[in-house]
Amino acid sequence: MTPGGPLVRAGRSLGGRFTPPGDKSITHRAILFGLLADGETRIRGANPGEDCARSLAATAAMGAGVRRERGETIVRGTGPGRRAGGGTIDCGNSGTTLRLLAGIAAARNGESVLDGDASLRRRPMARVIEPLERMGARVSADGGRPPLRVQGAALRGIAWDVPVASAQVATCVLLAGLSASGPTTVTLPGPARDHTERMLPAFGVPLHVTALPGGGRRVALEPAVPRGASLTVPGDFSAAAFALAAGAAHPGAEVTAVGVNLNPTRTGLLDVLAAMGAGIEVRNRREEAGEPAGDVTVRGPERLSAFDVPPEWVPRLVDEVPAWAVAASAAAGVSRVTGAAELRVKESDRIAVLARNLARLGLRVRELPDGLEIEGGVPRGGIVEADLDHRIVMAFAALATRADGPVGFDDASSVATSYPGFWADLAGLGAEVEGVPA
Ligand code: S3P
Repeated sequence: MTPGGPLVRAGRSLGGRFTPPGDKSITHRAILFGLLADGETRIRGANPGEDCARSLAATAAMGAGVRRERGETIVRGTGPGRRAGGGTIDCGNSGTTLRLLAGIAAARNGESVLDGDASLRRRPMARVIEPLERMGARVSADGGRPPLRVQGAALRGIAWDVPVASAQVATCVLLAGLSASGPTTVTLPGPARDHTERMLPAFGVPLHVTALPGGGRRVALEPAVPRGASLTVPGDFSAAAFALAAGAAHPGAEVTAVGVNLNPTRTGLLDVLAAMGAGIEVRNRREEAGEPAGDVTVRGPERLSAFDVPPEWVPRLVDEVPAWAVAASAAAGVSRVTGAAELRVKESDRIAVLARNLARLGLRVRELPDGLEIEGGVPRGGIVEADLDHRIVMAFAALATRADGPVGFDDASSVATSYPGFWADLAGLGAEVEGVPA
């Protein structure tokens, strides 16, 4: 075993079925909407990773009752009335926890200090600070980065144009708007994920959503106290993406993700894999927590073709660019993604970290200001420096299934933030995974 975690080797062949963990974005929302709610919220299939555990701990710090019962996560919300802030809350690696919580803390009495690990302390927060200050809260942050000191206030509703198509920012403002006086409207310039709009009605909060040309939308709500809800979280497409991309990269492979969320704002990677020549099939379509879900099978063609991802598709695969790199590195020719500058401010600078590590494994790659160019080839073994980014570790583990030597990591512990069962699932699909910590 390497000091930094597992060593992954190409197994004899890749294929099979796996069940990804519950969707992280949806779990965060269910927990945090549950915090605001009057009554109990029961969540089945919550994501078991550290990020969502941060949201749950923050929810308890803000005064909610939290318990686990027969596999369900149960949140007894704080309900109506202006409640106290949460003191100092460590959001760990979780940008979603911090940005959504900022919208809740802004309407509480007193101060909440929202902090995180070294990665989160590098991430831009001006995008949530500005609207919350416009609504009447006071927020201080050094250089616009965590820790955020949020001084709550009696908020007023606003109409806010979100400058980047960020669902986190839109959700932050909408959550603040629930406790404000007067209506709140957010306008998103592009097709960001819409889990908030799908879920709030289940908590008894009506919304008015208007589609805009170019894939954006306007969402309006009136102040309201959500009421407790009961929901089942579908599987996380973003977690499933690595094994699905690996399936596309292995000629003749067939990989099925069972019970995965198929919200069209999330599944851009399937469109890209299809355009590259992979076979995609969805069976057992159903609806869970107001979201489309199903079992997705990806089949690896004899030869994947290179493909340029249109920039307007990027918001629909913003978290899947590391998984895209797995397929691109197996395709004949040069594949390109552009219009993806937001990737530089995720858990790591994903453009730089992908470029550096693809090159380390012997692949030809060009870093662009807002994207990457990758030429297909056979990766060699090596040690990946993952910059503590879970999606980088999982992407290179998937890529390792077609490397001609073992791939290890400087530190692979970040996988636990979103997908603690990842190594077992990868091994179940036929990869050789050695040295998984107990
Ligand atoms: C998320 C939104 C996206 C995404 C993140 C989760 C969410 O971030 O990258 O992993 O749950 O709302 P942005 O809102 O910054 O695009």
